[in-house]
Amino acid sequence: MPSSYRYQPIPPSPFSPSLQSSTPRSARSRNLAFTCSRFRPKFLIMLGASTILLLLGLGVPYTIGHFAERQDLSNSTNLISLASASTSNDHANIPSTTTHSDSAITSSIALNTSTFSGANSTSTSVAPIASSTSSAPSKGPSGNATTYYPPLNLTYISNPVSAPINRSYYNPSSKWNEAHKKASRYLSNWTIEEKVLLTTGMGWEQGRCLGNIAPIPSRNFSGLCLMDSPLGIRLTDYNSAFPAGVNVASTFDKDLMYARGFAMGQEFKGKGAHIALGPMTNMYRVPAGGRNWEGFGGDPYLSGWATQMTVWGIQDAGVQATVKHYIGNEQERNRTTSDSQFTDRTMREIYSHPFLKAVQADVASVMCSYNLVNGSWACQNSEMLNGILKEDFGFRGYVMSDWNAQHSGVLSANSGLDMTMPGDIEQKSLTSYWGLNLTESINNGSVPIDRLDDMAQRIMAAYFLLGQDQGYSEVNFDSARPLAEANNSHVDVRDEHWKVIQHIGAASTVLLKNINNTLPLKSPRKMTLIGSDLGPSYKGPNGYSDRGGDEGTLAMGWGSGTCNFPYLVDPLQAIAHQARKDGTTLDWWFNDFDVDSAKYWATGYDVALVGINSDSGEGYITVDGNEGDRNNISAWHNGSELVQAVASVNNNTVVIVHSVGPIDMEDWIDHPNVTAVLWAGLPGQESGNSLVDVLYGWYNPSGRLPYTIAKKLEDYPAELVYVDTNIPEHPVVEYKEELNIDYRHFLSKNVTPRYEFGYGLSYTTFEYNGLDMWDNEAWNERDLQGEDDDILEEKSTYHSNNTAIGTSSGSTRTNSTGKLGSFAKESLHKTRWTISVDVTNTGDVFGCDIPQLYLAYPPEAGEPPKVLRDFNRVQLAPAETKNVQFELSKYDISIWDVVKQKWVIPNGNFGIEVGRSSMDQKSVMLDWCFEGCN
Ligand SMILES: *[C@@H]1O[C@H](CO)[C@@H](O)[C@H](O)[C@H]1NC(C)=O
Ligand SMILES: *[C@@H]1O[C@H](CO)[C@@H](O)[C@H](O)[C@H]1NC(C)=O
Ligand SMILES: *[C@@H]1O[C@H](CO)[C@@H](O)[C@H](O)[C@H]1NC(C)=O
Ligand SMILES: *[C@@H]1O[C@H](CO)[C@@H](O)[C@H](O)[C@H]1NC(C)=O
Ligand SMILES: *[C@@H]1O[C@H](CO)[C@@H](O)[C@H](O)[C@H]1NC(C)=O
Ligand SMILES: *[C@@H]1O[C@H](CO)[C@@H](O)[C@H](O)[C@H]1NC(C)=O
Repeated sequence: MPSSYRYQPIPPSPFSPSLQSSTPRSARSRNLAFTCSRFRPKFLIMLGASTILLLLGLGVPYTIGHFAERQDLSNSTNLISLASASTSNDHANIPSTTTHSDSAITSSIALNTSTFSGANSTSTSVAPIASSTSSAPSKGPSGNATTYYPPLNLTYISNPVSAPINRSYYNPSSKWNEAHKKASRYLSNWTIEEKVLLTTGMGWEQGRCLGNIAPIPSRNFSGLCLMDSPLGIRLTDYNSAFPAGVNVASTFDKDLMYARGFAMGQEFKGKGAHIALGPMTNMYRVPAGGRNWEGFGGDPYLSGWATQMTVWGIQDAGVQATVKHYIGNEQERNRTTSDSQFTDRTMREIYSHPFLKAVQADVASVMCSYNLVNGSWACQNSEMLNGILKEDFGFRGYVMSDWNAQHSGVLSANSGLDMTMPGDIEQKSLTSYWGLNLTESINNGSVPIDRLDDMAQRIMAAYFLLGQDQGYSEVNFDSARPLAEANNSHVDVRDEHWKVIQHIGAASTVLLKNINNTLPLKSPRKMTLIGSDLGPSYKGPNGYSDRGGDEGTLAMGWGSGTCNFPYLVDPLQAIAHQARKDGTTLDWWFNDFDVDSAKYWATGYDVALVGINSDSGEGYITVDGNEGDRNNISAWHNGSELVQAVASVNNNTVVIVHSVGPIDMEDWIDHPNVTAVLWAGLPGQESGNSLVDVLYGWYNPSGRLPYTIAKKLEDYPAELVYVDTNIPEHPVVEYKEELNIDYRHFLSKNVTPRYEFGYGLSYTTFEYNGLDMWDNEAWNERDLQGEDDDILEEKSTYHSNNTAIGTSSGSTRTNSTGKLGSFAKESLHKTRWTISVDVTNTGDVFGCDIPQLYLAYPPEAGEPPKVLRDFNRVQLAPAETKNVQFELSKYDISIWDVVKQKWVIPNGNFGIEVGRSSMDQKSVMLDWCFEGCN
């Protein structure tokens, strides 16, 4: 790792006003209490206009430093623009480096920068600042300002943000129409070259951000800054390190999903980044998949909800969200050569569902993936981009390539790609498939001019949709040159986000085992901590570039889906603090391989905590022989032996697991001395604090597994396709388990897992009664009068009967599924049925429960035995009962009919089931017939 990568503590520049006066206001002004219940969403109040102005108007734009002191990134004698770089269009070499980034970030100032027609551009840093009069959005986050937690001991209050679930977001909102009109007016007199500039990134490290669209000063356009990652802004400083996607999924809490997105969005905005490269919503298909932890687990509906909430959150903060990686990018191994093959139905019902939810949440951008999909590169797959995304889903934003995932100029343009990132064919090659080549293709007719207009309009529409033309702050950091002092203002964007981070950390912790009420701990006199996962890394939290190492407590995986930790509270630190309050004495042993000493230091203590972990990440970094994907699902660092050693000498052994995914715990889980197991995932910067909240009962655990933990690797429905040679050229990743991903497979094949999807214990107990269901048809009919389908009438130019598009892409869509946006139409997604159940806290402490709604289709439908559709989180005092409701739309109960190419409701009896997990023996059920039972 080059030393330049490491951030040096540098005193803030006198020219950089602190964010303190702006961002925090927004959080404080939103004096909403967090509520864990989502069952009464009707009581939403809109924030006052002044609050919205406070939310959006960051007021003073951040300055980069005195202009004269800025290191000028341009060199007028050496101007190389990708708009003028040339390469052959049919040259389809696979890029040798295909990562978002790698550790080779140098401190040298880039000498080459992309500019427009010789203008003296100085990178995105000299963006003209428009007037800062913010336009208030038509909606904002809302909540019930008077709903507070009851003053009970087992509660914990964090940043109060409620997801505005009740706003009518079943379709992409009509705000896109206005945004497209504005973009069309704005671009009306732009030249071809200028429009091309919007579509082509400036090239790797040619600007301050991970991806850069060049400014066009003559058009008063300041360019675009694109930044990783899905858990916080990457490659900068004074940012927060949020819990990973898999943790927010395991909260099963839509409010927290939204709150995390909103807080992250504020941080991207505070740094001047326009586009956040997240959320990542690829599925937990194979248990060892390297980047699984960046996403939201092994069920399409859980992922879909988390994706939708995250997109709302990020975009309500004013930042463009990018949902990725579209599509079929479920393993790291050979991701740039492999061909993911799935059936139409599998793709529609599982893998594209979260992307549909993102589109319904108005996502600005979709990132196409590295791999091939059913034989064609994802970034030039006309069926996936033009057909499903833009036609079926009615997506109005733009498609960007993953970094160097583009493989052609003309073909990708005609297949629906709108923006190429980072712009050059290989990093720093300064050649591009687009740039001047795109201009040429337009001029010689191989790409219709309509297509270019569409690309540019989609990109600018997203910009206008988020109001980024109004007072957006300048980019105030330089991700490629963190040590170039003049380029980095070190703006602190963290606000009080530690609260939502700690809250999600606690809410995502899953209690897997707890015998004899071992937990919560009750002021133990003598406690010991065993295992390096419970302490700090001697290298500090950021000691490994892109977190590519496993040393000390694990709070994040590795790769481009990471960010720098501002600090990392490890378990020892937080527990020591609690020990002082409780009068506990504390010992520890952190050498994982010296099990004899571990036994010695575990003997004679009231309680022994053992911390173990398992790590994975993106394929460009190999850690301990794991090339992104995990080699197996065993605990790292001798974890299994360590637990067994401690359990052999201490009859109150509590295991803490920090892990990217399932681990094999069969060697110790049934050991009678293992009295409790906490599954803490990847909790981010407040790791130890969140753990203490749960360990000591300040927070009653309610997290649920977002994937199934099997008894052995072979029990899973799918494994990594593991090719070691160059043959075949495109290894096939066949999704042959089809709809039977994760728990669905265990149910249909009758395989007993160790802990199933949705499972998680509490310090109290709950009971369900009075399951009821009704049809809202009458109300619906009235409500839908004249409303159906009119949202998406305005067609994008792609859809303008231009036959040239079809022919030149070589991929004309033969079986069109109908009207533009037919998948998002109101009649398909509107609430039609309501399910109601009473949940009672039958234990003696306050706690949250997560009732989950599963559907059992009639057997002829060909579905797995049970599928998740919704979940809610409800907080209950002892003996309290609350009514929880779920809603279903026609889409929710349909299956994809591959012959008719549409969503159809199967005939016959459905089982409607509400339970505490996917295999809850005490769930409540009823039968329901939607159609065709007479
Ligand atoms: C907020 O919640 C409280 C308690 O549930 C309720 O009494 C009140 O009416 C709600 N207020 C609004 C504006 O919905
Ligand atoms: C611009 O680049 C050229 C060639 O690399 C170099 O000789 C010259 O000094 C540079 N000029 C500035 C102003 O950096
Ligand atoms: C570009 O820079 C040169 C040298 O600094 C200057 O003479 C020229 O006026 C500048 N051009 C523009 C368009 O700002
Ligand atoms: C909270 O805990 C304190 C001390 O542990 C106890 O005195 C108090 O009664 C508890 N309050 C409630 C509402 O349970
Ligand atoms: C483009 O059009 C806008 C408004 O329609 C106008 O203000 C601007 O001067 C025009 N620019 C050029 C270069 O023609
Ligand atoms: C697959 O990945 C392995 C390990 O990186 C590599 O050796 C092999 O050549 C790759 N095969 C293909 C076809 O990409």
